[in-house]
Amino acid sequence: MIAEKMKNMVANSSAIRAMFEEGNRLAKIYGAENVFDFSLGNPNVPAPEAVKKAIFELLEEEDPVALHGYTNSNCGYGDVREAVAVSLNERFGTHFEGKNIVMTVGAAGGLNVILKSLINPGDEVIAFAPYFGEYRSYTNNYDGVLVEISPNTEDFQPKLDEFEQKITPKTKVVIVNTPNNPTGVVYSEETIKKLAAVMEGKQKEFGTDIFLISDEPYRELVYDGVQVPYLTKYYANTIVGYSYSKSLSLPGERIGYLVIPDEVTDSEEVLAAANVATRILGFVNAPTLQQKIVAKCMNEKTDISYYDRNREALYQGLRDCGFSCIKPQGAFYLFVKSPVADEKEFCAAAKKYNLLIVPGSSFACPGYVRLAYCVSYETIINSLPKFRELAKEYF
Ligand SMILES: Cc1ncc(COP(=O)(O)O)c(C=O)c1O
Repeated sequence: MIAEKMKNMVANSSAIRAMFEEGNRLAKIYGAENVFDFSLGNPNVPAPEAVKKAIFELLEEEDPVALHGYTNSNCGYGDVREAVAVSLNERFGTHFEGKNIVMTVGAAGGLNVILKSLINPGDEVIAFAPYFGEYRSYTNNYDGVLVEISPNTEDFQPKLDEFEQKITPKTKVVIVNTPNNPTGVVYSEETIKKLAAVMEGKQKEFGTDIFLISDEPYRELVYDGVQVPYLTKYYANTIVGYSYSKSLSLPGERIGYLVIPDEVTDSEEVLAAANVATRILGFVNAPTLQQKIVAKCMNEKTDISYYDRNREALYQGLRDCGFSCIKPQGAFYLFVKSPVADEKEFCAAAKKYNLLIVPGSSFACPGYVRLAYCVSYETIINSLPKFRELAKEYF
């Protein structure tokens, strides 16, 4: 009875979510402290105190009718959009105005708004494996075709030769995600410059516009002083999708934004389309209280030292067991090479020790597994003896 398109979606419904349910089931049997659930990217660092303060202040000070009402523009409150633009300009030396910002229902909402705005049926959207699996669903929502670039398992920087070959006159969008889910890799400035040059060349060759979407919910989650290039500076047709889900630990509040710079081809038209897409996708506008909260917390950050301690402990602990993985530079994921070719088999073996990890095939990169280390430090430390037992099955 349900739509044909949804049948596939339901059948392939997220393996990560299924793992999360499994975690709850195991916790009931063995006790939560004996289940080591590395499956979900749900931050476990609380939102900064400033968020709570902002909520109380807003509820006390603002006119409740305006605060909880629809926004005049579907793109969000004017003052909030202005505050986002000012903050970006201060931090990255850009020249955005409030009009370039569209407040969104998280990064997921933003990606859907921009893909709805840009994609005609049959248009191609390129993503570099390993990538956030939802890109496939979002592209499919608008009858686009996802074109995959195979993973470079040396250092997980994108394979630019293959990229160049796979761009066609139908390529409309290229999505990059750095810091990356699931690898934690940050694309270097050199990579970005080369990627931009390839795209410039192909736009000229085909006489088309190819939009670069920078999906960056993990921008602030970086370690060891690593710099994350701001992509609008390297390629004119760049649109940025941001989210406060991870940077302020507000994933359930569904708040983020898109940046559509003036340099983007037909930017006014794209902005108008994003405005309408926000409305007709049923979002109407990003949550109004959350817009006001993030405007007050523009310079707040999550406690990155918490994730850093987990990163060091898990990375070192797994390597000591004999597993191999590259050290993440950002986000809160570790991408570990499966000791057997079929990583789903490895995930099943891990489950025997109550270790819940996600197969790399969910990110178009079989042979690897993802561990989300946005868990308590105790979970990491207590899981290591289990990983040691698991390792003995292989090494
Ligand atoms: C790469 C990537 N993009 C987008 C999202 C969606 O995030 P949001 O909660 O902002 O919708 C996630 C969530 O984990 C993600 O990892």
